[in-house]
Amino acid sequence: MPGLTIGDTIPDLELDTTHGRIRIHDYVGNGYAIIFSHPGDFTPVCTTEMAAMASYAGEFEKRGVKLFGLSCDDVSSHKEWIKDIEAYKPGSRVTFPIAADPNKEVIKQLNMVDPDEKDKAGQQLPSRTLHLVGPDKKVKLSFLYPASTGRNMDEVMRVVDSIQKAAKYRVATPANWKPGDPVVISPSVSNEEAQKLFPQGYEVKDLPSKKEYLRFTKV
Ligand code: BEZ
Repeated sequence: MPGLTIGDTIPDLELDTTHGRIRIHDYVGNGYAIIFSHPGDFTPVCTTEMAAMASYAGEFEKRGVKLFGLSCDDVSSHKEWIKDIEAYKPGSRVTFPIAADPNKEVIKQLNMVDPDEKDKAGQQLPSRTLHLVGPDKKVKLSFLYPASTGRNMDEVMRVVDSIQKAAKYRVATPANWKPGDPVVISPSVSNEEAQKLFPQGYEVKDLPSKKEYLRFTKV
């Protein structure tokens, strides 16, 4: 069975978390949510990732994005681990829930299994998966990283900014785009429409094909 991917509806699971029982769709509500998994509590890379997420929480909140962590240990272990995370990065507070998955069932349903990692009992472990879910409860982005590589939270923020811009205007963001840079006008927008939609103007890149498809504007 193919795993959860872009465009799929996130399963509406009800999970035990450090904030009590939470249903995923209720949690996403009318905004966005980042659901991200970790191989395990009290492991080095995961601790640095959780602390990084905690320090970015305010920026995500400004963008209407809620955070939701998941690791396979139980809730009491997560609560102990949070003390280490906050001590590692003084001033950071883990204000978002961390879900438990001691039976390793949730990671299968959310396409978070790392085929190369097993716990001491030989059971499957989660990869560093991250799903950005939109107000329609559909997956807008998925990252799947191996246990050995901590994620770059600036990149997560950059993608949130790109996706939210594309949801608001008929634009996309080019390679290595960062907020403030020009964006490109979507191929589905004709030049006639572009003049109405982007009264600030746009620049057409002159290319050998003369097809006028690479159009930069600012929004
Ligand atoms: C870590 O968080 O450092 C880690 C966890 C599982 C496997 C490898 C690294």
